[in-house]
Amino acid sequence: MKKAMLTLVFGSAIFLAACGGGDDKEKADQGAKAPDGEAIAMKSCIMCHGGELQGQANAPAINDVGSRLSEEEILDVIENGKGKMPPSLKGEDAKAVAAWLATQK
Ligand code: HEC
Repeated sequence: MKKAMLTLVFGSAIFLAACGGGDDKEKADQGAKAPDGEAIAMKSCIMCHGGELQGQANAPAINDVGSRLSEEEILDVIENGKGKMPPSLKGEDAKAVAAWLATQK
């Protein structure tokens, strides 16, 4: 009898967790709208990479970087820097810019 009760409790815990997952998805959908990767890049990156991210002086073009680097590699450069590029953004902003740049091919 005790065992049956436990199964019941476990069963409903899993059921509740599944419902909670649905809420998380709604939150993630809202989050996707929040930081605008393109807008952030146009503010934070153009001083080195050029007004259209076409590259200038010592900084390479990144308006086609999605054809060379994956989203994770771009995120790594943004958060940690590379060569003469300093770490530039963190967290959600960095992720939004990396996601947008990965589509620029
Ligand atoms: C202070 C100047 C500076 C700023 C600001 C800057 N970068 Fe850079 N970035 C560079 C330089 C210089 C390189 C070349 C690094 C190397 O390979 O030695 C580079 C390289 C990169 C690369 C690698 C390109 C490749 O083909 O390997 C990416 C991606 C990149 N930058 C993205 C960004 C993004 C996104 C931002 C804005 C959040 C940004 N950078 C802001 C100077 C800058």
